[in-house]
Amino acid sequence: APVYLHDYRAPAWSVRNVALEFDLDAAQTEVLAELELQQDPAQADAALFLHGEALELLEISLDGCELSPADYQLDANGLTVPHARGNVRLRTRVRIAPELNTALQGLYLSGSHEAGFLLTQCEAEGFRRITFFTDRPDVLARYSVMLRADRARYPVLLANGNPDGAGELPDGRHWARWLDPHPKPSYLFALVAGKLEHIEDHYRTSEGRDVCLRIYAEANAIAQCDHAMRSLKHSMRWDEEKFGRAYDLDVFNIVATHDFTMGAMENKGLNIFNAKYLLANMQTSTDADFAHVEAVVAHEYFHNWTGNRVTCRDWFQLSLKEGLTVYREQEFCADMGSRSLKRIEDVQTLWRAQFAEDAGPLAHAVRPEHYLEINNFYTATIYEKGAEIVRMLAVALGRDGFRRGMDLYFARHDGQAATVEDFLAALGDANKTDLSNYLSWYRQAGTPRLSANGRYDAATRTYHLQLSQQVASILLAADNSPLPIPVALSLYLPNGDAVPLRLAGEVAASGIERVFVLDRDSMTLVFEDVFAPPVPSLLRGYSAPVLPQFDVSADDLALLLRADSDGCNRWMAAQALMTRLFDADVNDATTLVAMNDGLAAAMDDATLDPALLAQLLSLPADSILAERLAEIDPDVVHARIGALEKNIAMVLHARVLARYDALSADETGAVEARAPARRRLKNRCLDLLCSRNDAAGIVRALNQFENARCMTDSLAALVCLVRAGGEPAEHALAAFHARHADDALVLDKWFAVQAARPHADTLDTVQALTERADFRWNNPNKVYALFMTLARNLHAFHRADGAGYAYFGACVQRLDAINPQVAARLAASFKEWRRYEPHRRALMQSELQRLIELPTLSPDLRDILQRALA
Ligand code: ARG
Ligand code: ZN
Repeated sequence: APVYLHDYRAPAWSVRNVALEFDLDAAQTEVLAELELQQDPAQADAALFLHGEALELLEISLDGCELSPADYQLDANGLTVPHARGNVRLRTRVRIAPELNTALQGLYLSGSHEAGFLLTQCEAEGFRRITFFTDRPDVLARYSVMLRADRARYPVLLANGNPDGAGELPDGRHWARWLDPHPKPSYLFALVAGKLEHIEDHYRTSEGRDVCLRIYAEANAIAQCDHAMRSLKHSMRWDEEKFGRAYDLDVFNIVATHDFTMGAMENKGLNIFNAKYLLANMQTSTDADFAHVEAVVAHEYFHNWTGNRVTCRDWFQLSLKEGLTVYREQEFCADMGSRSLKRIEDVQTLWRAQFAEDAGPLAHAVRPEHYLEINNFYTATIYEKGAEIVRMLAVALGRDGFRRGMDLYFARHDGQAATVEDFLAALGDANKTDLSNYLSWYRQAGTPRLSANGRYDAATRTYHLQLSQQVASILLAADNSPLPIPVALSLYLPNGDAVPLRLAGEVAASGIERVFVLDRDSMTLVFEDVFAPPVPSLLRGYSAPVLPQFDVSADDLALLLRADSDGCNRWMAAQALMTRLFDADVNDATTLVAMNDGLAAAMDDATLDPALLAQLLSLPADSILAERLAEIDPDVVHARIGALEKNIAMVLHARVLARYDALSADETGAVEARAPARRRLKNRCLDLLCSRNDAAGIVRALNQFENARCMTDSLAALVCLVRAGGEPAEHALAAFHARHADDALVLDKWFAVQAARPHADTLDTVQALTERADFRWNNPNKVYALFMTLARNLHAFHRADGAGYAYFGACVQRLDAINPQVAARLAASFKEWRRYEPHRRALMQSELQRLIELPTLSPDLRDILQRALA
């Protein structure tokens, strides 16, 4: 049954203290739990109910008295003890089977029965698969955890908090106790047990606490943890400097696993990571992988304050911790590297993933009003759009105002489970302003449009800029009031100078960039002392997550592409030109000339950051361009993108070739700060050189593949070769596999490259790859490498004969029996089915229909299918 936000009630029963004892074993683990429970006096009639799923109850007693089956009720959701009242102590002993847990929620086994290790994943509702508990985020308890296991098989025993003793037991067993002084919700519980190596470092906090930092991994990966450790120390320092937040335990442990459904998890003092986001090494990881590790390490670390110390009242508030933490992570990465580049990457992600989600049947508000399965809400909307809302607040308040607001938020809500309203109130109160109109951003689904029309009056030297917003057409929420949209803007003169901005009525100009908040349907800004018709540079730094619909000419865009001082807006101008050309089937001479000249000028600008240049030269993602069509026809999308790419490759050929050769001669394969930017440009050049399959490109790709000094270069070359196909592709794939056969993460890349090959017969390739011994259906990374990639493949997934949909659907069905969350995530790939041309639309619909009629479906998959078809 759906859960509704407006049904929220404070917990009738809470847990003050919990003592857990684990007798760990992969086949059978026993969990003894002692809960100190307290009933809310205002809910004196409420029976004691504890969540519990797939638990075998061995023993139960209340206040020291054993209960008989007549004293309690057990069902598939949990345990009810009707006669409990007031303050009670409940003791339960249950048995669970970690090695049969393929859903990877609760306690499970990573790796083989003989050599693997045990670990947990509890967010959102996995703790109820470990023991009976009030498994909701607003019940905060102090945990003491005793772990017992065979010493040889499970030498390392970890849990949350600080270590609190360890010792030997008879029969080759040992124990370790952990005590977490900070009350926390059950979703932050974690334990790890097994054969793991670690690296160690230390960090002294601004408060003078010496923290022992450890990263644990299996022996063959321990050499790849240094980058994560560096990132962790940078994150700890940054949070102190930028937000005044210091770490609060004596130890901080991170563990890497290859078996993880999501990216990573912020369990208190014991973060657990998908190895993909923790391990990094120049020979096996790309520059992008290095950046992801830094970002995810920071993200999970920052959760210690935004998520753990201040947690969420209920799961509707998920973005309160996720959106805010993504924002903090983005700012950290911007400070560590290039700010405008980071912003471009984040905007790309938002447009590609979140706008698509917001435009289809899975659209939901950043704070939804109801859900069937909360695990299906770990989405681009909750994370990325949520971060954009926080960014708008930060832009509107300014740096110091935002910091004041955050300080008050932490001061007021430390140790509490908070709401989005609490957050807005703290930011507003600290700045003596009312931010409650931002709540609409949390309540409305869909992407609002922002339009801008400018009019220059030469006689009065005034420029009238009308800004207006249009709510999304698919608006689901009751709330459709106008949104507050911070618009950062500058005005450029034709010579490339920015105009000092003075509004009519103001005495003096103040700066060349200003932020205006559009909080009505429409408003007109009148600027004075504008000496020539200006080109508006709007939404600078992409100051609000809206779909821009600006009335500017191709020549205006070319000016911004050339002269805008904001790198993000230069990039947005290039993207806008490319999008217009896509719309015009690459047949609009004025726009073509503007784009070609603009890109050529950028290539000739020796001062330009090579990474920014690489972004300027890149087309919008296929999925963004596809959205431009009234009905998506993959063949049309593919043809237009191909024509656009070939035009760029042809017009810039000499420049691209020269640049590639120069960068390639300089390549050292280093991690050094500026090397990744150069590699990015070099590999975009290689991509362009190979786009027409001519020998000059292919020869360079072969040469780069043979002589690559780092994974970034070898993978980029492999992609080009595989796209071209034929013998060189086969040869390179075999060589790559031979070189990396024992590295699971590199094999994921090898699988993904093949699933991405733009050909209809890639479907057969994928099918054959699943038969290999090094593919595992129960490993999410392997499954995502093949199937997330396949779902983005216009040629294979969207094959006109429907074979792609049928095969993909069959795989989703198979995966649902193994890991429902993985199946649900994959099934979401069908979400845009209604946007396709009639033939494919019918094929996708019938596959969705077939799936929803299956006799056994997980709640996770059913939820996605129902919403997709609704
Ligand atoms: N809180 C984790 C993060 O840092 C994500 C965990 C999601 N897990 C899940 N099963 N839905 O973003
Ligand atoms: Zn998170």
